[in-house]
Amino acid sequence: MNIIFLGPPGAGKGTHAQRLTQEMGIPQISTGEILRAAIREGTPTGLRAKAYTEKGELVPDAVVIDIVKERLAKEDCKNGCILDGFPRTVPQAEALATFAAIDAVVNFVLPDEAIIRRLSGRRVCPSCGLTTHVSALNGKDTCPECGSRLIQRKDDLPETVENRLKVYKEQTEPLIAYYQGKGKVKDILCENHTVEENHAQVRAALGLDA
Ligand code: AP5
Repeated sequence: MNIIFLGPPGAGKGTHAQRLTQEMGIPQISTGEILRAAIREGTPTGLRAKAYTEKGELVPDAVVIDIVKERLAKEDCKNGCILDGFPRTVPQAEALATFAAIDAVVNFVLPDEAIIRRLSGRRVCPSCGLTTHVSALNGKDTCPECGSRLIQRKDDLPETVENRLKVYKEQTEPLIAYYQGKGKVKDILCENHTVEENHAQVRAALGLDA
């Protein structure tokens, strides 16, 4: 099953993709994570992507399309994958359609105020990749899974979050109508629900408990 996770920054795409990848045994393909790894390693793609990601702008379509095409050709994607953060523009969606069939699009819905609350408190583990929130840490600054010191993503600073929301509305939101036209979209209403409750909605939307 090839699944797209669509939604504004901070809506919970990564949180639920991390869980579902374990439950379904298919990989999570996060273009954001792939780009952050390339930036850390200083690869040519990383050097090109750095300025865009730090300003909250989208990396050029051609760069991310090549990354995803190459990744989907790998053996571990033969039974499907969760595309977390790709596609993000209509040209990306059109390119994806030429090399993968999409079974479902999970659309995470969350208002701007909640997004800002979530992103300003998000902390990530640089060692094991866990994503969490300060509200779950009881004042600690270390990873509950592996003990490493948690960090804040550079693009979670307030001025960048504002631009990411603007970019989402202008360039990514049109994908909801694009995939609705293909009958693929399942909305997940995220506001005022716990991670567990939202995860149950995701599983139900995908028919996993039927
Ligand atoms: P990317 O890493 O994809 O960022 P994003 O889409 O902005 O999404 P986030 O990772 O910020 O949020 P999320 O929805 O995964 O939320 P999370 O689960 O962490 O992309 C980064 C950058 O890379 C882009 O800006 C762009 O430059 C570039 N890029 C990536 N893909 C690209 C593409 N296709 N084309 C071009 N450029 C691309 O949750 C957020 C917080 O909320 C966490 O703290 C979490 O613990 C908390 N939380 C989750 N669920 C709940 C809940 N139910 N209740 C309370 N808190 C919750």
